[in-house]
Amino acid sequence: MSTRDQLLALNDELRRLKAGGQRAVSVSAEGLAQLREAVAAAQADGTAETASITTAPFLMAEPPKPVVRAGAAPAIVSTMPATPEIKLPEGDKQARWNFLRELVVNDATCRARVYAGKQVVFGVGNLDAAVMFVGEAPGGDEEDQSEPFVGRAGQLLNKMIKAMGLERGQVYIGNILNWRPEMGPRNADGSQTGNRPPTAQEMAYCLPFIRAQIAIIRPKVLVALGKTAVDGLLGADRFKSMGAARGSWHSYADTPLRASYHPSYLLRQEGLTSAAAKKIKRDAWEDMLAVMERAELPVSEKQRNYFL
Ligand code: URA
Repeated sequence: MSTRDQLLALNDELRRLKAGGQRAVSVSAEGLAQLREAVAAAQADGTAETASITTAPFLMAEPPKPVVRAGAAPAIVSTMPATPEIKLPEGDKQARWNFLRELVVNDATCRARVYAGKQVVFGVGNLDAAVMFVGEAPGGDEEDQSEPFVGRAGQLLNKMIKAMGLERGQVYIGNILNWRPEMGPRNADGSQTGNRPPTAQEMAYCLPFIRAQIAIIRPKVLVALGKTAVDGLLGADRFKSMGAARGSWHSYADTPLRASYHPSYLLRQEGLTSAAAKKIKRDAWEDMLAVMERAELPVSEKQRNYFL
């Protein structure tokens, strides 16, 4: 979603709140300044649509405080509190993971961002996994089932895992964000059309949760699926594109990390026969071959030749 479209969605939502009697919405001083800039830039394009954006006078700068959700306010009006300090208890992996899962699924900030009837999504899988996949954020199927990668992208990830000679239950799968990023007012049935990547603030809030999962699992290899996972684990300024991040080994807290394409991106190549689409699929498979070798998994000749 472009900034202009986000502003238009925000504008609609603020008008709806205003019509319902709400007089003000809390925004951090920094957020307010950014909004004013964005509104001015959008209005500069001179179209009738953007000329109607009148968000700024309706917003009041206040010190950051936890968000109280009013309907389905877009994330742009949210302020992010600091993540509570995580102190994992002594004990075995299972005890530490159980503690962390309870902490995250009951976290007030995560819960406040989950639409009514939907769920916070925590990582899943084998706590002794050699390979840990990290994705971006839950989508519609994931927020319904409270499990990462169970929708169409998840089906493709399952196929990739199988092609590596593994079962889903042998790996661990987590996400950078623990809730589905809100895009504006939901449809009448609570569903949402489309997904957006998490904001830097949203990512910053949830990063301690995925880091703590990595610290518990201690996989042999991490696989960052897509640019959001790369940015979250390696730093947002490190790589300009997936192309730059792919194809070599990186390190996250002394764990080898391989960046690969997000399954949703690979789904968009399905059915395409162009040389470019074929290369993307082979490149993604070569990432998995590298992961298998690093994790000391057997690699057959047949596996080596997939997507050639
Ligand atoms: N995409 C992700 O990045 N994570 C999920 O859990 C589902 C889709």
